Amino acid sequence: MYKALSCLSGRCAVFKRESRCRPRLAKLHWASDVPGMPSCNFTPEKYTGMSKERMMEIRRQNCNPMTMKVTYYKKPLFIHQGHMQWLWDVDGKRYLDLFAGVATVSVGHCHPKVTAAIEQQLKRLWHTSNIYVYPPLHEYCEKLASYLPDPLKVIYLTNSGSEANDLAMLMARLHTGNFDIITLRGSYHGGSPQAMGLTSHAAYKYPIANGLGCTNTMCPDVFRGPWGGSHCRDSPVQTIRECSCSQGHCMANEQYIGQLTETLATSVPTQIAAFFAEPIQGVGGVVQYPKNYFKEAYKLVRERGGLCIADEVQTGFGRTGSHFWGFQGHGVIPDIVTMAKGIGNGFPIGAVVTTPEIAASFAKGVHFNTFGGNPVACAVASSVLDTIQEDGTQKISLDVGTYLITELAKLRDKYEIIGDVRGKGLQIGVEMVKDKVSREPLSHEAMNVIFEDIKDMGVLIGKGGLYGQIFRIQPPMCITKEDADFFLAVFNKSVYNYMDRR
Ligand SMILES: Cc1ncc(COP(=O)(O)O)c(C=O)c1O
Repeated sequence: MYKALSCLSGRCAVFKRESRCRPRLAKLHWASDVPGMPSCNFTPEKYTGMSKERMMEIRRQNCNPMTMKVTYYKKPLFIHQGHMQWLWDVDGKRYLDLFAGVATVSVGHCHPKVTAAIEQQLKRLWHTSNIYVYPPLHEYCEKLASYLPDPLKVIYLTNSGSEANDLAMLMARLHTGNFDIITLRGSYHGGSPQAMGLTSHAAYKYPIANGLGCTNTMCPDVFRGPWGGSHCRDSPVQTIRECSCSQGHCMANEQYIGQLTETLATSVPTQIAAFFAEPIQGVGGVVQYPKNYFKEAYKLVRERGGLCIADEVQTGFGRTGSHFWGFQGHGVIPDIVTMAKGIGNGFPIGAVVTTPEIAASFAKGVHFNTFGGNPVACAVASSVLDTIQEDGTQKISLDVGTYLITELAKLRDKYEIIGDVRGKGLQIGVEMVKDKVSREPLSHEAMNVIFEDIKDMGVLIGKGGLYGQIFRIQPPMCITKEDADFFLAVFNKSVYNYMDRR
């Protein structure tokens, strides 16, 4: 079925239907019993607040209906307290949090060191704005800059990832004098009217004028896309697709770069402002590109006067394990890096980091935001950087993440509905399919049954992908191998339960 064929310069890569993809009579193994949840030596406060019914009433009446629309789970979760990788609901039930409030809690819920840093700053100074000079802002900017390679040394602090991306768009346009920006299909770069233009995912678009000057190109998704093979990506696990490429040569990459070349030739002027991409797509479903895609895409973009912008909102701060920044895994240096989420371990802060020259173009006008560089936010973010070092969270991401990905791949080989396992470090995606031959997305109903079952067994994960068909595992980077084993048993059991019941 997918003899997906790529012919470039007369050479053909034939991606064969391979034996591993054939529909196997899914031989269900006994799903072993789920072991007890790993122990935790923290005791949460007893919840004595508002009833669940009252909260839902208020949510329906006084919160924008959007809040109901995004509420996860048929039986919603009422969270009361958090500690490191653990969350407790209002009834005192404990959950292993493998989604980190949407890939945001980086070093652990209410991490004692970061909490102490907030407390100290709260007693000293909550707010003043960057029209004055105060130590936390400068201490933090110097520290953050030391984590980035030259010439990425100039920082502008924001409140969120969308705001960071808005500003990155503005900076790229001002600096290049060009307008057009290219993003990858399936990407999520934020929901502000400007960032919505970068976002290439229908669910997050509104029918308003947005995205003027934003064009998308084919996402080089080596599992779901037309091309992909058995050694395309930088992950401990490759796709189940086979290819005839020799090591070090990737025909799928040539094809996807061909798509970008065509976009550049047809959809934008000869000079562009920027190419905007996450090193690994997050909301899009932890999509990884062929190994040299970024290198070649950056070259093409720069030839057309464009800046290369890495959205590190999800992949930054050591989450990918091998490197501190996702772009380093691609062997490139962007012109602008945007960040948020993990930067503040859940405290609202974001940043745009760029070169002195690009920053100077931005400084030709005046831009002001009240809370960017807030002293409490800076104290938190500074403590997060220290904690990442002291707790060795990047190494945890690498070790526990690699273990999880490798073990999840064994479940992929066991169950017909697990189509792909991918990612790096603790940025992990599990793509669910109807079957491995068609690779058609598993239905929403089926996804929800498995998702709810996992939650009922005490583990929180996320969902993503254009068709909501991908489970996302992006936990706080303090989880242990024991936690990983618990999740693997829960996941195995929930998939088994679904297969058994259907
Ligand atoms: C990659 C990426 N960029 C930008 C954003 C927007 O960040 P925020 O929600 O803080 O505006 C998100 C949010 O999920 C994201 O995942």
